[in-house]
Amino acid sequence: MEIKKIKKEIKKNLSPFRYNHSIRVAKIAKKLAKHYKLDQNKAYLTGLLHDIAKELSEEENAYWIKKYNLPKKLLEEKYKNIKHADIGAIIAKEKYHSDNDIYNAIKYHTIGNKEMNMLAKIIYIADKIGRTKIPEELKPVKKLAYQDINKALLYCIEKQELKLQEKGIKLHQDTKELKDLLRNNKRNQEDFF
Ligand SMILES: [Fe+2]
Ligand SMILES: [Fe+2]
Repeated sequence: MEIKKIKKEIKKNLSPFRYNHSIRVAKIAKKLAKHYKLDQNKAYLTGLLHDIAKELSEEENAYWIKKYNLPKKLLEEKYKNIKHADIGAIIAKEKYHSDNDIYNAIKYHTIGNKEMNMLAKIIYIADKIGRTKIPEELKPVKKLAYQDINKALLYCIEKQELKLQEKGIKLHQDTKELKDLLRNNKRNQEDFF
């Protein structure tokens, strides 16, 4: 399906707020893809699709979880902001026949994963800065993303960890693993130079 058609469908299914955010993320993802010599159209499309499941009803969530045998615990309150990543990845695959890179980038865009490839990192970062109001603490990411994407990713995760700590919540295990990996890589790089 061509991008124009997908855009139209997404516009129809999302609130104006979510649609605008998706367009922003798509545009930033495209720019970052250009910078890192990745397929720009694919990055744009992934940005467009990343929140495709963000505004589903609980019935719709339950439908996808059942259809694809996802863990039922995703319907619990504590997964309310996370599950749209798992479900969105599935919908992108079923409806738009997206490939594994797109699937994983959508799946990993909220909590991250140590298996993230460049496209997934780009979408994760674009999601953080593709907002009308970027939180003060995330503003440096706009530049950092072009200088060193791994540093930008680590920076986002550390800020997120601080925010969660204030609420007494621990980082998700997958996020923690990614953070440790990025920290180790950074340390090794610093040792090397
Ligand atoms: Fe999201
Ligand atoms: Fe998003």
